[in-house]
This record gives sequence, structure tokens and C-alpha cells, in this order.
Amino acid sequence: MKKTALTLLCLAIGLASASADDVIKGAMKKNFKPEDALSKKVGKGEASDAEIESLIKCVQAICAATPPKGDKAAWVDKCKAMVAALKKVQAKDASGLSEFKKANNCKACHDVFKGK
Ligand code: HEC
Repeated sequence: MKKTALTLLCLAIGLASASADDVIKGAMKKNFKPEDALSKKVGKGEASDAEIESLIKCVQAICAATPPKGDKAAWVDKCKAMVAALKKVQAKDASGLSEFKKANNCKACHDVFKGK
């Protein structure tokens, strides 16, 4: 995948030389793991529209990347489910948050796609 602005949005600053393989890692470190990560803000219902939008772009970018383990088609489905849930959150659809929390189960996703 080409290094687009979209991809870089997802990565921790300073990873300008990151390869496509690092897209998922960078996204995890920046938008999933930290206490103030976007995914956590969204889960708590504290994210602004712009923040939700930027997480959607990020998940779309990792969707295009290939995880170290698991089936690519299943990965794409998983990412798409997360994007769909985020769009519901953005549209203030009441089911969006619970769908997002389900899609954002760290361990469930890591068990299938993260490798060791
Ligand atoms: C949609 C699936 C998915 C979800 C949900 C997910 N992760 Fe990940 N995560 C991955 C994959 C795939 C990798 C492996 C990336 C690689 O090695 O290239 C990973 C790797 C990581 C890493 C290691 C990054 C590194 O430097 O190697 C951390 C830390 C991490 N995830 C944190 C989290 C946390 C915290 C959550 C929940 C809030 C979470 N992830 C939710 C798919 C997911």
C-alpha cells in the first residue's frame, strides 16, 4: 500500500519511513493502546466528530494492510465491522457504541490476527 496522508494519520509521529507492514503496529500504538487513545475516547463516548472521523480513516488504512496472522478476508470483514460501528457512533445511532466496543475487543482480535 502506498504511503498516503491517510496512512500517516494513523501512525505515531516519526514513523515516516514506516513500511506498509508497520501500519497496523503504528495504529495500535497511537490510536488503540494509550490511555488517551482515540479508540478509548470513542468507547467512552467522549470523541468529537473530527476524532471519530480520524479513527474511521485509521481503521480503513489498517483494513488495507495485511495482519501478521489469520485470513485476509476475515481481517477485512473485521475492520469493516469496526468502520460501520464508528459510522453509527458518528450518526449518533444508539447501537453504535456497543457495536464499536464489540469490534474493539483487543484480545479477540489479537488472538486471531496478531501472531505471537
Ligand atoms: C481489529 C483487530 C484489532 C483490535 C480490535 C485491536 N488490535 Fe492491537 N493489533 C492488531 C494486530 C493485527 C496487531 C499486530 C500488528 C503487527 O504485528 O504488524 C496488533 C498489535 C498490537 C500491539 C503491538 C504493537 C507493536 O508495536 O508491535 C499493541 C500494543 C496493541 N495491538 C494494542 C491494542 C489494544 C490496547 C487494543 C484494544 C483497545 C487493540 N490492540 C485492539 C489488531 C487489533
